[in-house]
Amino acid sequence: MEKRMSAVVADLTTLAVDAIVNAANTSLLGGGGVDGSIHRAAGPELLAECRALNGCATGEAKITKGYRLPAKWVIHTPGPVWRDGNHGEPELLASCYRRSLALAAENGLKSIAFPCISTGIYGFPAEKAAEIAVGTVREALRGISGLMEVVFCCFSAKNKTIYDQLL
Ligand code: AR6
Repeated sequence: MEKRMSAVVADLTTLAVDAIVNAANTSLLGGGGVDGSIHRAAGPELLAECRALNGCATGEAKITKGYRLPAKWVIHTPGPVWRDGNHGEPELLASCYRRSLALAAENGLKSIAFPCISTGIYGFPAEKAAEIAVGTVREALRGISGLMEVVFCCFSAKNKTIYDQLL
Protein backbone atom coordinates (compact mmCIF):
# COMPACT_ATOMS: atom_id res chain seq x y z
CA MET A 1 0.00 0.00 0.00
CA GLU A 2 1.58 3.23 -1.10
CA LYS A 3 0.16 6.66 -0.50
CA ARG A 4 1.92 9.89 -1.22
CA MET A 5 1.34 13.60 -1.01
CA SER A 6 3.34 16.28 -2.80
CA ALA A 7 3.13 19.95 -3.69
CA VAL A 8 3.97 21.47 -7.06
CA VAL A 9 3.73 24.87 -8.70
CA ALA A 10 1.81 24.36 -11.94
CA ASP A 11 -1.21 25.17 -14.03
CA LEU A 12 -3.65 22.50 -12.85
CA THR A 13 -5.02 22.02 -16.37
CA THR A 14 -1.66 20.65 -17.57
CA LEU A 15 -1.34 17.82 -15.02
CA ALA A 16 -1.58 14.26 -16.33
CA VAL A 17 -3.23 12.70 -13.29
CA ASP A 18 -6.33 10.50 -13.16
CA ALA A 19 -8.41 13.43 -11.86
CA ILE A 20 -8.00 17.12 -11.29
CA VAL A 21 -10.28 18.82 -8.81
CA ASN A 22 -12.19 21.91 -9.88
CA ALA A 23 -12.69 24.73 -7.33
CA ALA A 24 -16.20 25.19 -8.67
CA ASN A 25 -19.31 27.10 -7.61
CA THR A 26 -22.61 25.46 -6.70
CA SER A 27 -24.07 25.95 -10.19
CA LEU A 28 -21.26 23.84 -11.74
CA LEU A 29 -21.73 25.99 -14.82
CA GLY A 30 -18.25 27.52 -14.89
CA GLY A 31 -16.77 30.78 -13.67
CA GLY A 32 -13.42 32.53 -13.34
CA GLY A 33 -10.19 31.37 -11.72
CA VAL A 34 -9.17 27.76 -12.08
CA ASP A 35 -12.78 26.83 -12.95
CA GLY A 36 -12.66 29.03 -16.06
CA SER A 37 -9.28 27.60 -17.06
CA ILE A 38 -10.52 24.02 -16.66
CA HIS A 39 -13.60 24.64 -18.83
CA ARG A 40 -11.51 26.38 -21.51
CA ALA A 41 -8.97 23.55 -21.60
CA ALA A 42 -11.55 20.73 -21.46
CA GLY A 43 -13.78 22.17 -24.19
CA PRO A 44 -17.56 22.66 -24.43
CA GLU A 45 -18.41 19.01 -23.77
CA LEU A 46 -17.51 19.58 -20.12
CA LEU A 47 -20.13 22.29 -19.68
CA ALA A 48 -22.69 20.09 -21.42
CA GLU A 49 -22.06 17.27 -18.94
CA CYS A 50 -22.10 19.71 -16.00
CA ARG A 51 -25.51 21.07 -17.05
CA ALA A 52 -27.01 17.62 -16.44
CA LEU A 53 -25.69 17.45 -12.87
CA ASN A 54 -28.09 20.05 -11.42
CA GLY A 55 -25.41 21.79 -9.41
CA CYS A 56 -23.59 20.69 -6.27
CA ALA A 57 -23.79 21.77 -2.63
CA THR A 58 -20.84 23.50 -0.99
CA GLY A 59 -18.52 20.88 0.50
CA GLU A 60 -19.87 18.09 -1.74
CA ALA A 61 -18.32 16.76 -4.97
CA LYS A 62 -19.40 15.44 -8.38
CA ILE A 63 -17.34 13.75 -11.10
CA THR A 64 -17.29 14.25 -14.87
CA LYS A 65 -15.01 13.24 -17.71
CA GLY A 66 -12.00 15.41 -18.52
CA TYR A 67 -12.57 15.61 -22.28
CA ARG A 68 -9.61 17.51 -23.86
CA LEU A 69 -7.68 17.72 -20.58
CA PRO A 70 -4.70 15.43 -19.93
CA ALA A 71 -6.58 14.34 -16.80
CA LYS A 72 -9.19 11.66 -17.51
CA TRP A 73 -11.64 12.96 -14.91
CA VAL A 74 -12.64 16.22 -13.25
CA ILE A 75 -14.00 16.22 -9.70
CA HIS A 76 -16.01 19.39 -9.14
CA THR A 77 -16.31 20.69 -5.57
CA PRO A 78 -17.65 24.09 -4.54
CA GLY A 79 -15.60 25.48 -1.68
CA PRO A 80 -16.96 27.84 0.96
CA VAL A 81 -16.87 31.61 0.53
CA TRP A 82 -14.70 33.00 3.37
CA ARG A 83 -16.60 35.34 5.71
CA ASP A 84 -14.84 35.36 9.08
CA GLY A 85 -14.12 31.69 9.75
CA ASN A 86 -17.10 31.34 12.12
CA HIS A 87 -19.63 30.31 9.50
CA GLY A 88 -18.54 26.71 9.01
CA GLU A 89 -15.88 27.63 6.45
CA PRO A 90 -13.15 25.32 7.87
CA GLU A 91 -15.51 22.33 8.10
CA LEU A 92 -16.86 22.92 4.60
CA LEU A 93 -13.36 23.21 3.13
CA ALA A 94 -12.33 19.97 4.85
CA SER A 95 -15.44 18.34 3.41
CA CYS A 96 -14.40 19.39 -0.13
CA TYR A 97 -11.13 17.46 0.22
CA ARG A 98 -12.76 14.47 1.96
CA ARG A 99 -15.64 14.10 -0.53
CA SER A 100 -13.34 14.55 -3.53
CA LEU A 101 -10.96 11.85 -2.30
CA ALA A 102 -13.86 9.52 -1.51
CA LEU A 103 -15.20 9.98 -5.03
CA ALA A 104 -11.75 9.30 -6.50
CA ALA A 105 -11.43 6.12 -4.43
CA GLU A 106 -14.96 4.95 -5.34
CA ASN A 107 -14.03 5.31 -9.02
CA GLY A 108 -10.75 3.40 -8.60
CA LEU A 109 -8.59 6.42 -9.39
CA LYS A 110 -4.94 6.32 -8.38
CA SER A 111 -3.87 9.95 -8.66
CA ILE A 112 -5.59 13.25 -7.97
CA ALA A 113 -4.47 16.88 -8.06
CA PHE A 114 -6.12 19.60 -6.00
CA PRO A 115 -5.96 23.36 -6.50
CA CYS A 116 -5.92 25.51 -3.35
CA ILE A 117 -9.71 25.45 -3.06
CA SER A 118 -11.42 28.67 -1.91
CA THR A 119 -8.16 30.66 -1.65
CA GLY A 120 -8.72 32.80 -4.76
CA ILE A 121 -12.02 34.50 -5.53
CA TYR A 122 -13.58 32.96 -2.37
CA GLY A 123 -10.98 34.63 -0.11
CA PHE A 124 -10.05 31.81 2.29
CA PRO A 125 -6.70 32.64 4.00
CA ALA A 126 -4.00 30.61 2.22
CA GLU A 127 -2.16 29.32 5.27
CA LYS A 128 -5.27 28.20 7.11
CA ALA A 129 -6.57 26.56 3.93
CA ALA A 130 -3.31 24.64 3.43
CA GLU A 131 -3.41 23.33 7.00
CA ILE A 132 -6.94 22.07 6.46
CA ALA A 133 -6.07 20.58 3.05
CA VAL A 134 -3.02 18.64 4.26
CA GLY A 135 -4.59 17.58 7.56
CA THR A 136 -7.79 16.37 5.94
CA VAL A 137 -6.05 14.50 3.12
CA ARG A 138 -3.56 12.89 5.49
CA GLU A 139 -6.43 11.63 7.66
CA ALA A 140 -8.60 10.53 4.72
CA LEU A 141 -5.79 8.55 3.10
CA ARG A 142 -5.67 6.31 6.18
CA GLY A 143 -9.12 5.06 5.27
CA ILE A 144 -8.41 4.49 1.58
CA SER A 145 -6.94 1.13 0.60
CA GLY A 146 -4.56 0.91 -2.35
CA LEU A 147 -2.35 3.44 -4.05
CA MET A 148 -3.46 7.05 -4.11
CA GLU A 149 -1.15 9.85 -5.10
CA VAL A 150 -2.29 13.30 -4.05
CA VAL A 151 -0.80 16.42 -5.62
CA PHE A 152 -1.41 19.87 -4.13
CA CYS A 153 -1.20 22.13 -7.16
CA CYS A 154 -0.12 25.62 -6.13
CA PHE A 155 -0.27 28.60 -8.44
CA SER A 156 2.61 30.47 -6.80
CA ALA A 157 5.98 29.56 -5.30
CA LYS A 158 4.95 31.38 -2.13
CA ASN A 159 1.94 29.13 -1.68
CA LYS A 160 4.06 26.03 -2.29
CA THR A 161 6.39 26.96 0.59
CA ILE A 162 3.35 26.81 2.90
CA TYR A 163 2.61 23.26 1.70
CA ASP A 164 6.27 22.18 1.86
CA GLN A 165 6.33 23.06 5.54
CA LEU A 166 3.23 20.98 6.22
CA LEU A 167 4.22 17.90 4.20
N1 AR6 B 1 -3.96 26.23 -11.93
C1 AR6 B 1 -3.75 26.11 -10.60
N2 AR6 B 1 -4.23 26.96 -9.68
C2 AR6 B 1 -4.93 28.02 -10.14
C3 AR6 B 1 -5.19 28.23 -11.52
C4 AR6 B 1 -4.66 27.27 -12.43
N3 AR6 B 1 -4.85 27.36 -13.75
N4 AR6 B 1 -5.94 29.36 -11.64
C5 AR6 B 1 -6.11 29.84 -10.40
N5 AR6 B 1 -5.50 29.04 -9.50
P1 AR6 B 1 -10.12 30.31 -7.57
P2 AR6 B 1 -12.03 29.79 -5.39
C6 AR6 B 1 -5.45 29.14 -8.04
O1 AR6 B 1 -10.44 31.77 -7.57
O2 AR6 B 1 -11.34 30.75 -4.51
C7 AR6 B 1 -14.71 30.65 -9.82
O3 AR6 B 1 -15.36 31.71 -10.44
C8 AR6 B 1 -5.67 30.49 -7.41
O4 AR6 B 1 -4.47 31.26 -7.39
O5 AR6 B 1 -9.96 29.63 -8.88
O6 AR6 B 1 -12.39 28.44 -4.84
C9 AR6 B 1 -15.67 29.53 -9.46
O7 AR6 B 1 -16.63 29.34 -10.44
C10 AR6 B 1 -6.11 30.09 -6.00
O8 AR6 B 1 -4.98 29.78 -5.20
O9 AR6 B 1 -11.24 29.46 -6.75
C11 AR6 B 1 -16.25 30.02 -8.17
O10 AR6 B 1 -17.28 30.94 -8.40
C12 AR6 B 1 -6.87 28.78 -6.22
O11 AR6 B 1 -6.52 28.35 -7.54
C13 AR6 B 1 -15.08 30.71 -7.51
O12 AR6 B 1 -14.20 31.09 -8.58
C14 AR6 B 1 -8.38 28.94 -6.13
O13 AR6 B 1 -8.79 30.15 -6.71
C15 AR6 B 1 -14.32 29.77 -6.60
O14 AR6 B 1 -13.35 30.50 -5.90
